[in-house]
Amino acid sequence: MTSRRTKASKPIGMDDFSGKTAVITGAASGIGLELAKQFGAAGMNLVLADVERPALDQAEAELSDAGYQVLAREIDVREHHQIVDLDRAARERFGNVHVLCNNAGVGAGGPVADPDNLEAWRWTIDINLWGVIYGCKVFLPAMIEHGEQCHIVNTASMAGLGSAPMMGPYNISKYGVVALSETLSKEMQMMQSSVGVSVLCPAFVATGIATSDGNMPDDVRSTLPERPEGGGMQDMLEAMVAGGISTEVVGKHVVDAVRNDRFWILTHDEPKAGVTERAEQIVNGVNPVVNPGFA
Ligand SMILES: NC(=O)c1ccc[n+]([C@@H]2O[C@H](COP(=O)([O-])OP(=O)(O)OC[C@H]3O[C@@H](n4cnc5c(N)ncnc54)[C@H](O)[C@@H]3O)[C@@H](O)[C@H]2O)c1
Repeated sequence: MTSRRTKASKPIGMDDFSGKTAVITGAASGIGLELAKQFGAAGMNLVLADVERPALDQAEAELSDAGYQVLAREIDVREHHQIVDLDRAARERFGNVHVLCNNAGVGAGGPVADPDNLEAWRWTIDINLWGVIYGCKVFLPAMIEHGEQCHIVNTASMAGLGSAPMMGPYNISKYGVVALSETLSKEMQMMQSSVGVSVLCPAFVATGIATSDGNMPDDVRSTLPERPEGGGMQDMLEAMVAGGISTEVVGKHVVDAVRNDRFWILTHDEPKAGVTERAEQIVNGVNPVVNPGFA
């Protein structure tokens, strides 16, 4: 499958992964770890970046034991200089970077009307949006410059295409990632660069995301209300994530999108109707309503 591009742009899509290099943030668990496994199996060198040292060590050991070339770096994607170091380390070890997955993310939410959860909002947006912005800005110049076929995959969410209540900072960050990715895709086409772009928008995937606020710094957590014991929003979220599709299915969608230069990676069919419905609401001037099936 080839994508529709303007006459001016180069046709892109990576058909040969062997000996090329993939950099993946949030690679120590969940979707990121699965992407590392699938790109490793396709013959790529792997640069794994994550803030969780023990999980990162485990991922590094597992992927090295599987016979893949692995470089692991503990980084916090909120820190621009750490991403600069990651880029340098990746290129020193493996040379040109060909696939960049800006995937690290957390799932914190909280109502808009709560005046006290500002720091939790900032933490979420710093990781989910600024982490992706930094990744693009730091890695792109060399990817454009080396001119070999390469691809950036930014992990957004269906939350970037519809705004569920109580998920403000998550929704904002993921809409931002969608907007950034669409903008970047158009700019890469205008430049006739060999950098393809995809945005990954899954609904629920069975990973540890629902408890990702375990990483939240204490000074941020202290600004949030005590979590009620059992039965609350958090339990509901954990159950929905646990019932999600497997990371393996998501990984296959991503590898296929990189191979075929597909921008939109929507891994779930059911919520697509909600995207259409929302677009119709916008052009018809219909006010937003809560939609339990989507957002
Ligand atoms: N699981 C889902 O239902 C789902 C749905 C849509 C989108 N997503 C997105 O997928 C991405 C991956 O999440 P996942 O579901 O695999 O969850 P996960 O918690 O299993 O993995 C996220 C990884 O990101 C790392 N991370 C968190 N903060 C970081 C930081 N500051 N710097 C570097 N690494 C950091 C974590 O340590 C973890 O290893 C996220 O961007 C998430 O928003 C997940």
